[in-house]
Amino acid sequence: MTISESNHKKQYDVLVIGSGAAGLTLALHLAARHRVALLSKQRLRDGSTWFAQGGIAGVLDETDSVDAHIADTLDAGAGLCHPDAVRFTVESSREAVHWLINQGVDFTREDDGDYHLTKEGGHSHRRIIHSADATGRAVHSTLIEQVRNTPNIDCFEHHIALDLIRQPDASTGRFRCAGSYVYNKKTEEVEVFQGRAVVLATGGAAKAYLYTSNPDGASGDGIAMAWRAGCRVANMEFNQFHPTCLYHPKAKSMLITEALRGEGAQLKLPNGERFMQRFDKRGELAPRDIVARAIDHEMKRLGADCVYLDISHKDPEFVREHFPTVYRKCLEYGIDITKEPIPVVPAAHYTCGGVMVDQHGRTDLDQLYAIGETTFTGLHGANRLASNSLLECVVYARSAALHIDATLSKVTAPKPALAWDASRVTDSDEDVVISHNWDELRRFMWDFVGIVRTRKRLLRAEHRVKLLQQEIREFYANYKITSDLIELRNLAVVSELIIRSALDRRESRGLHYSLDYPGLRELAMDTILVPENFANQRQFIDLSDTH
Ligand code: FAD
Ligand code: SIN
Repeated sequence: MTISESNHKKQYDVLVIGSGAAGLTLALHLAARHRVALLSKQRLRDGSTWFAQGGIAGVLDETDSVDAHIADTLDAGAGLCHPDAVRFTVESSREAVHWLINQGVDFTREDDGDYHLTKEGGHSHRRIIHSADATGRAVHSTLIEQVRNTPNIDCFEHHIALDLIRQPDASTGRFRCAGSYVYNKKTEEVEVFQGRAVVLATGGAAKAYLYTSNPDGASGDGIAMAWRAGCRVANMEFNQFHPTCLYHPKAKSMLITEALRGEGAQLKLPNGERFMQRFDKRGELAPRDIVARAIDHEMKRLGADCVYLDISHKDPEFVREHFPTVYRKCLEYGIDITKEPIPVVPAAHYTCGGVMVDQHGRTDLDQLYAIGETTFTGLHGANRLASNSLLECVVYARSAALHIDATLSKVTAPKPALAWDASRVTDSDEDVVISHNWDELRRFMWDFVGIVRTRKRLLRAEHRVKLLQQEIREFYANYKITSDLIELRNLAVVSELIIRSALDRRESRGLHYSLDYPGLRELAMDTILVPENFANQRQFIDLSDTH
């Protein structure tokens, strides 16, 4: 490789990878004083944020309290939440929601003009502010509009970050992040984007599972890139399965919001019998891990394809007004939710673990920050409380932006990066290998690393993921890059991290349930994986004059 003379090199103050709630919020906080490049692998709106339904949790009502929201978060997190991260997030919730309102987000109001607050599983109060049942769309479209109207932010859609660029930094004696190699889907070339600070805001990894509520891009790219760049990841075994996704042959990733249960919807077996009280005294409003496991148990016990979520006993007008999206979408599939129950199954929904960060979103690699679902902040513990995710995105994006803003003037510009070398690769004549491996990976993750786990199944999955990774490495080294190959490579890394973490955890806690280890250990500990090239330990050899 040689120093790039390419036209495709872009230099910014801050490079933000990802345009969901986290990336957009951070970009908007920084744009007054810094030039920002914002990358999105599809259109700006194509992340999980757009699809969020229920809302954003926050202490917004006088009868609620910070302590109650903290207690609910800790309770759902099954002993693994970091209390400092929980307090920080919850105490920042009011400000975060008001920032969104000031950006123009149109949250649903009561007749008297106050904001309507709904309830979801694990919450002891009504504290979810929402925009009917399409909160993500309201938040995302508002922030996208703001970003498009902000001169200092350049948006690059259909640009996929491949790998981070790591450089030695003579001023610190440590490695730093200096940018990213980025695949431009339109030109099919790899470009170099550099920034004095780089921020991963790439969302979660639920696409590792065959059935998921997530959109296609949720392939854990940021987690895989950070891992390859020498950052630790934590608690990857805690994959949240949402209890209620529509069960219909034609419905891909269609979530039925938990707010339906918050407003009284009941879970029923195919014979119409309610069952949640047998599993938890909070019934349908128990935390998600409990509800998803109960559904899984009942489906397996009865050999049923699905269970049913029934809100047909409520006033049809109320249902249509509060859940217009769910109502309309279900009607498209021939289900009138005001008259009949909805067939539902659990599906992979949220990645509780991720890249380890501190309260400012700092990772193990200098000048690399991470925010949003891609991170492990300590907030969610072993099971995320509903609607705490969008809150975390906004709170940590602001905190990371403040840190970047306060420190960037002291950070030198990175050295020009080496160009991407594509001279030794050819076009693949075997794309079927990639699509086959995608399917195989997601299928065995679902079958062997799902809601209920055993050591034997995990070892089976570990064996398979290693074989797949070998094949993917060969493919990656020999053939031209495609977006499917990039995502498959990342999904395989993230799946391996999930399996390794699940094997390490010899107990059942929160979202991780093992038939071999059904008990809870006394000491609650995070599962922290340290990469071989751990950025924090390595002192570099200065190669700056040798290439
Ligand atoms: P995302 O919104 O997923 O955005 C990721 C961004 O990164 C995208 O722009 C993507 O293009 C980009 N990207 C990814 N990889 C690359 C790459 N390699 N190169 C360039 N760009 C890349 N949470 C709540 O709190 N309340 C809810 O009501 C709620 N409902 C939900 C409903 C659904 C159906 C789903 C799927 C999730 C829901 N969640 C909810 C979870 C929440 O929506 C997500 O956790 C949150 O939106 C994540 O935001 P983010 O900014 O981290 O990532
Ligand atoms: C939902 O609306 O049920 C999703 C809420 C969440 O994932 O926090």
